[in-house]
Amino acid sequence: TPKGSCLESVKIAIDTGYRHIDGAFVYYNEHEVGQAIREKIAEGKIKREDIFYCGKLWNTCHPPELVRPTLEKTLKILQLDYVDLYIIELPMAFKPGDAIYPKDENGKIIYHETDLCATWEAMEACKDAGLAKSIGVSNFNRRQLEMILNKPGLKYKPVSNQVECHPYFTQPKLLEFCRQHDIVIVGYSPLGTSRDETWVNVSSPPLLKDPVLNAIGKKYNKTAAQVALRFSIQRGVVVIPKSFNPQRIKENFQIFDFSLTEKEMKEIEALNKNVRYVELLM
Ligand code: A2P
Repeated sequence: TPKGSCLESVKIAIDTGYRHIDGAFVYYNEHEVGQAIREKIAEGKIKREDIFYCGKLWNTCHPPELVRPTLEKTLKILQLDYVDLYIIELPMAFKPGDAIYPKDENGKIIYHETDLCATWEAMEACKDAGLAKSIGVSNFNRRQLEMILNKPGLKYKPVSNQVECHPYFTQPKLLEFCRQHDIVIVGYSPLGTSRDETWVNVSSPPLLKDPVLNAIGKKYNKTAAQVALRFSIQRGVVVIPKSFNPQRIKENFQIFDFSLTEKEMKEIEALNKNVRYVELLM
């Protein structure tokens, strides 16, 4: 993100009423997020405990001995004492080191063998140390969740699993599994994400152009984006829409003054294409 735009956007978001902020070391703007939170606290607009900040453990930091130092680095960048939620960003490990995407001479990612359960134990230790209030995972499928849930001596269950989730990718089976285990689904790309071909599967049509979402929106004087977000929160999926545009940041928050009927929810559910925008091909 262009320098400063994240700082400004987070401040606008907090003024608008957002409290849940989803970040990561690999977004390279955690310093701006932290600054925005601290400025808003200094202004008296919020207290630290009003904010719910989620940070993420990157793939190169899965070896257990790296987990706490990595979280401490994030806290240093944020200049905060704790994160509200710390999650394993992806269920596969890359070779530890300075390169975020370590590659061999043929340009292939260098993976690293680690035990996800051992990584999880290091995450549990971060919670015990008070550096993270809660711990969770991201991009985990059912089998990977079960590995953690069935770990002998499990101390804390993952509280959440952050995955792609929106009307074109509704995740019914994973959602049901997570419900049964009290794991909150946090839906990323809730608006169908950007159309950036470097990491987005653009062969799937743009979500916000969908006729059903637009027709339902018309009825409530809402946009397709607002209908998509409302749909997710109404099925108990937490949404983390991304925008760096002040008007759209506000628009995405105006979703608590209407509700979709059961019939409309079913119509939107039927839009599911089972196709991901974010394929994470690495
Ligand atoms: P921008 O930052 O210019 O607002 P997702 O949250 O699914 O990842 O989607 C993010 C993309 O959707 C970004 O390209 C963002 O662009 C755009 N976006 C965010 N809010 C809206 C909205 N209300 N209407 C249309 N596009 C939006």
